[in-house]
Amino acid sequence: MMQAPILSVSGLAIDYELSSGGLFRKRRTLNAVNDVSFDLFPGETLGLVGESGSGKTTVGRAVLRRLGVAQGKIIFDGKDITHLRGEELRRLRSRMQIVLQDPYTSLNPRMKVRDIVAEPLRVHGLAEGSEMVVAELLERVGLSRDAADRYPHSFSGGQRQRIGIARALALKPSLIVADEPVSALDVSVRAQVVNLLQDLQRDFGLSYLFIAHDLAVVRHISHRVAIMYAGRIVEIAPSEEIYNRPIHPYTESLLSAVPVANPKIQRARQRIIAPGESVDIADPPKGCRFHPRCALATQRCREEEPPLLHKTPDHSAACWNRPA
Ligand SMILES: Nc1ncnc2c1ncn2[C@@H]1O[C@H](COP(=O)(O)OP(=O)(O)OP(=O)(O)O)[C@@H](O)[C@H]1O
Ligand SMILES: [Mg+2]
Repeated sequence: MMQAPILSVSGLAIDYELSSGGLFRKRRTLNAVNDVSFDLFPGETLGLVGESGSGKTTVGRAVLRRLGVAQGKIIFDGKDITHLRGEELRRLRSRMQIVLQDPYTSLNPRMKVRDIVAEPLRVHGLAEGSEMVVAELLERVGLSRDAADRYPHSFSGGQRQRIGIARALALKPSLIVADEPVSALDVSVRAQVVNLLQDLQRDFGLSYLFIAHDLAVVRHISHRVAIMYAGRIVEIAPSEEIYNRPIHPYTESLLSAVPVANPKIQRARQRIIAPGESVDIADPPKGCRFHPRCALATQRCREEEPPLLHKTPDHSAACWNRPA
């Protein structure tokens, strides 16, 4: 893709301020994400994958400027938005939307679907004529127009997610952060919602940052995949590269958990297990953060953190023991 990226994140660090209880209420800082860099191109889907607590949601919310940025830069459509405030930030927000995991809690149960979908229009002063827009949006996401008069509880999980998607589309955004959009859905419904997201991407040229903790979920929708571990990106590559030629041992361990359709291959595939508890990011190990769980770890891994380096022009990984 030779176009300029719609989103370019470089050297991003995000801290959370934690106030510990107790007499002196000492403030501690949790560095949840560090040195995260990636580009997202128009019409592209970047999958962001990693286990719970690896920092995926934090990256997504930072991109949407819902979190303060401790370090680094976020460029959206050629403009530095890292520290945008006030009216400019409000306008920016209409161009980036979020689709959340749980349509049960992200849709207000006391609002009719019409008002849920029209809410972003109202917030941005575009309520006039919204009736028509809402009806079109509902049809576009595969719901009937009369869905507008009903409440969220009368829909299935998949339908609710369609309502959430319609709402996200209302302001014609160019970027959607989809934070585990299908993780709470039945397996049978997942593919339908993923297909819908793909259709919408084609029709509207949308870019997706698609967050999931499971590589299988992002496989069919992602053009590229970034793997996160303990607040860092440890590997990033085109989707097929990640699945066929993973470099980082952590990526391999994630892949070993992805079922393969062919039972023979499934049986033959050695299940690589990364033993040990997930890393405590409040007190991360020295060196490579993955080293306590890594079968390849050497002395260097215990001492020096490996940088994310190009192993081939479009495939980067952070591992001392896996040269190009
Ligand atoms: N509001 C917050 N205040 C303090 N710490 C937080 C906050 N939100 C997240 N964290 C911490 O930051 C780290 C990254 O969390 P984040 O939610 O980004 O991970 P995640 O990869 O999205 O995980 P999951 O798969 O569970 O959604 C975790 O250690 C988490 O406990
Ligand atoms: Mg999350």
